[in-house]
Amino acid sequence: MPNATKATATENKIAIIGAGPVGISAARALKDSGIAYDQFESQSELGGNWRNGVYKNAHIISSRKTTEFPDFPMPASYPDFPSAEQMLDYLESYAKHYNLIDDIHFNSTVTQVAPAEVGWLVELADGTKQKYEGVVVCNGHHWERRWPSYEGNFAGTMMHSKDYKNPDQLKDKKVLVIGGGNSACDIAAEAARVGRSAHLSLRRGYWFLPKTIYGKPTAELLNTKMPVWAQRLHLSLLLKIVVGDYRKYGLMKPDHKVFEHHPTINTELLHYLKHGKITPHGDVKRFAGNSVEFIDGSKEDFDLIVCGTGFNVSIPFLAKDLVQIDGPVVKAYWGLVTPHHRQLYIYGWGQARYGFGPLLTPASQLLAKLIVLQRRLQHPLGEVLQLARQPLPTTHLLDPMATLKQIKSASRALWLLPILDRYFVKN
Ligand SMILES: Cc1cc2nc3c(=O)[nH]c(=O)nc-3n(C[C@H](O)[C@H](O)[C@H](O)COP(=O)(O)OP(=O)(O)OC[C@H]3O[C@@H](n4cnc5c(N)ncnc54)[C@H](O)[C@@H]3O)c2cc1C
Ligand SMILES: NC(=O)c1ccc[n+]([C@@H]2O[C@H](COP(=O)([O-])OP(=O)(O)OC[C@H]3O[C@@H](n4cnc5c(N)ncnc54)[C@H](OP(=O)(O)O)[C@@H]3O)[C@@H](O)[C@H]2O)c1
Repeated sequence: MPNATKATATENKIAIIGAGPVGISAARALKDSGIAYDQFESQSELGGNWRNGVYKNAHIISSRKTTEFPDFPMPASYPDFPSAEQMLDYLESYAKHYNLIDDIHFNSTVTQVAPAEVGWLVELADGTKQKYEGVVVCNGHHWERRWPSYEGNFAGTMMHSKDYKNPDQLKDKKVLVIGGGNSACDIAAEAARVGRSAHLSLRRGYWFLPKTIYGKPTAELLNTKMPVWAQRLHLSLLLKIVVGDYRKYGLMKPDHKVFEHHPTINTELLHYLKHGKITPHGDVKRFAGNSVEFIDGSKEDFDLIVCGTGFNVSIPFLAKDLVQIDGPVVKAYWGLVTPHHRQLYIYGWGQARYGFGPLLTPASQLLAKLIVLQRRLQHPLGEVLQLARQPLPTTHLLDPMATLKQIKSASRALWLLPILDRYFVKN
């Protein structure tokens, strides 16, 4: 069904870039608020990472309850940790239920977004250029591979976790996985099952959390109204009992407090370490042929290295001066609003300690309110928020409860912004 509020000219519309979970959540909120939009998606179908970014055997680490959109529950038949296939079915049914699909332009890669005299010029890979009132960037942040660099060259196969798709790639190989995040641990566990042998290189100590505690998904214990210090205390006590000292697994002691790093939630890693099916190593020092030398001086030959070393936040179609990106942090007020321009929003780059749904639903509603509000303001919303002494983010790690509170208080403070805009922002 076509968008009921479709405007005739794109100048009065918002362009949403990306139709992954963040893009479809934004689209739904705009539609509910009567804001006309066009949505552009590079791929031929929606779903983002869940269609083609994750490996075949991926199951979420965040649980069903902490990942579903609160007003569109996942089917009751789903397990606590749905598979990539189930996630994709769920996202498709969400988009169908809210009639979002007809407004998505598939096979449409945005190559440039540039400010026009009024609004934004959006250019597609086929050369089409159209003017939009505003742009919501939902291009995802788990696709630009972050590679480690070492002395020497590796003569075997080296790939990034992004290019790992199925266990056949590991079969009968001696595999070294680099990194301590969820990608590295999932792939190391898969290599322990199907590879000739599995090894994991970690450059420091991390907290590895089991997938369930008290029979509940661990992500649900992190979804709590307790202050962070109490959550830390609770979790450290539980980990002392359930896991114990990481050094007993051949790992390094964590060098940071729990939650100072995006949590790695993986029961299989600890299991396979204890079964001798994964061998832990320190950081890599250099390569020579098929040999890898680690910083303790030990050397081993490998067939395959998988770099689970994460991703860079990247918005290739935006000029660098439109919004500052410091490592994983996008300098946008309330995690959304760019500082100097009207109607340019960067959405979905934060890393919550649990799944996307519960945060995206209220954040998308806030986004829709901001788009409507900006239409009434003389100055860019970012300048008004700067005057209101709102801080720019300093981390990409989000405490779910604190973020929900911030979204609520931001929504409550919206009435003040037109007053600041009118009387206090300097031209
Ligand atoms: C292996 C793996 C497992 C994960 N597990 C979990 C989990 O358990 N729980 C969880 O909450 N999250 C998990 N994530 C994080 C995952 O990234 C999010 O769940 C979610 O997919 C992010 O949604 P998104 O819409 O921001 O980005 P994406 O899903 O990446 O979607 C972005 C979309 O934008 C499109 N796009 C990009 N650039 C352009 C362009 N220039 N023009 C047009 N379209 C464009 C892309 O084609 C894509 O469809 C996992 C990630 C990985 C890699
Ligand atoms: N099953 C699942 O649900 C699942 C599976 C995979 C991924 N994910 C999600 O996808 C997102 C990305 O996860 P990810 O694991 O790909 O990336 P990530 O969370 O950024 O982890 C990257 C890891 O690589 C390490 N690293 C980075 N550069 C390195 C270098 N030069 N040398 C050695 N180690 C290096 C990092 O360690 P430092 O901290 O020391 O930099 C970190 O441990 C996360 O949101 C994650 O939760 C979920």
